[in-house]
Amino acid sequence: MLPLAAHLCLLTLPSMSDLIQPRLPCPDKQAQHLRVRTLAALAAIGGALLLTACGGGGTDAGTTTAGETQAATLSPVAALGKEIFNDASLSASGRMSCASCHDPDNAYAQTNDLSIQLGGPDLATPGTRAVPSLRYITYTPAFHFANDGTPTGGFNRDGRAQTLAEQAQRPLLAPHEMANGSKAAVVGKLARASYAEQFRSVFGAGIFDTPDDAFDRVLVAIQQFEQEDPSFHPFSSKYDQFLAGKVNLNAAEMRGMVLFNNPQKGNCAACHVSARGADGTPPLFTDFTYDNLGVPRNQDIPANADSAYYDMGLCGPDRTDLANRTELCGAFKVPTLRNVATRKVFFHNGAFKTLRDALRFYVRRDTNPEEFYPVVGGTVEKFNDLPAQYRANVNTTEAPYNRTVGMAPALSDAEIDDLIQFLNTLTDGYQPQ
Ligand code: HEC
Ligand code: HEC
Repeated sequence: MLPLAAHLCLLTLPSMSDLIQPRLPCPDKQAQHLRVRTLAALAAIGGALLLTACGGGGTDAGTTTAGETQAATLSPVAALGKEIFNDASLSASGRMSCASCHDPDNAYAQTNDLSIQLGGPDLATPGTRAVPSLRYITYTPAFHFANDGTPTGGFNRDGRAQTLAEQAQRPLLAPHEMANGSKAAVVGKLARASYAEQFRSVFGAGIFDTPDDAFDRVLVAIQQFEQEDPSFHPFSSKYDQFLAGKVNLNAAEMRGMVLFNNPQKGNCAACHVSARGADGTPPLFTDFTYDNLGVPRNQDIPANADSAYYDMGLCGPDRTDLANRTELCGAFKVPTLRNVATRKVFFHNGAFKTLRDALRFYVRRDTNPEEFYPVVGGTVEKFNDLPAQYRANVNTTEAPYNRTVGMAPALSDAEIDDLIQFLNTLTDGYQPQ
């Protein structure tokens, strides 16, 4: 979270309607109680909690394996969305689909360890950000400022898209992704796809005659697929089974969990919520807020060759409406940590390639900054991926990054080992031995 808004959130009691749980998906419910920061971290986590979860935990959903779609019966619109999501012919290159970057077999994230992906007509045009997992994405609330001023929700790492449908427009048209020149170009390709007839029968025989309308239906179909298909929210990790009282965590995993939740140690749960909501909804390991971690500049990103270019998240340049909110410069959305152990790159700019290195950064950023930032004229240039005037925006007040040179890191290497064991329990598709 951002320092200015730290810990102002109020604990709201669940209303009656919160207690009556619909089945999947129920994104808004999740959002309401995710403001319960450190309190949530301190809340008891045990197997005995009642299972009325949103799609969650203890019932049939708990036995889905990763990549397996649980023989889902999708609505006709979602079934079209699935075709579109996997259709490389809808790109300028003819070789890139949504699934190229968001692989269903890798928690809908990238499978290579490039900091950024290459798209465009020749698959040679670099992007500027690492690919987020799309698992659990449907629980994200639309972007808003919470009552205490905390920026919350929205799609993309800067929250600039309000809905999944709005989000889906960018990859289809962006020059560094699927790179179609126009909406009509996408629709023209779609009209030649194997499922074109199905598209007509769902959206009307004349739908291809009005490309703008057809394009809007494409976006809606993608959104419907992301919301409906159980492979986007299987809740089938070991941790889910632990919360359901079906398995135990081993000693190292338990130690890691305690460190994760302890406000004086990892303090991870302050932003990556680990406890069920008051209404029983399973934790998503994000509170959908934004924080400024001061991740080092990544020279593997071609855009960074220009020393005047900075990706500053909420305040731009990709997002434009908050450009004058300079206190938000450098803030990126808190990602879910579900399936984090399957990631190949970490943070918005993919600056770290292993989970261990990402965690070492968290706890050694302030005690041993020379390990992460360039030393210029004898001085460590901390937070070098922000213009100097915005470096004070970086969160330096909350554990685990509230230390100074000379202090011990908040977590030792052995404790990081335990934390990694715990994070491994968040990988979907767990099969009890
Ligand atoms: C070339 C790789 C690439 C392709 C192809 C691609 N994406 Fe993405 N996707 C990304 C990156 C990178 C981001 C993060 C963008 C940002 O933060 O600005 C992202 C973000 C997203 C998000 C928001 C996730 C979040 O955490 O808020 C969704 C949803 C998404 N993509 C869906 C899709 C869909 C649907 C398609 C196909 C129409 C698609 N993507 C194609 C790379 C890709
Ligand atoms: C104050 C809020 C906050 C706290 C506390 C926090 N994180 Fe994060 N975490 C974030 C934000 C924001 C990001 C994304 C930063 C970015 O992309 O630049 C992030 C990203 C990550 C990532 C990278 C995930 C990915 O998909 O790339 C990992 C791993 C992670 N956090 C683990 C942890 C662990 C473990 C702890 C405790 C030691 C922790 N975090 C504490 C806010 C927080």
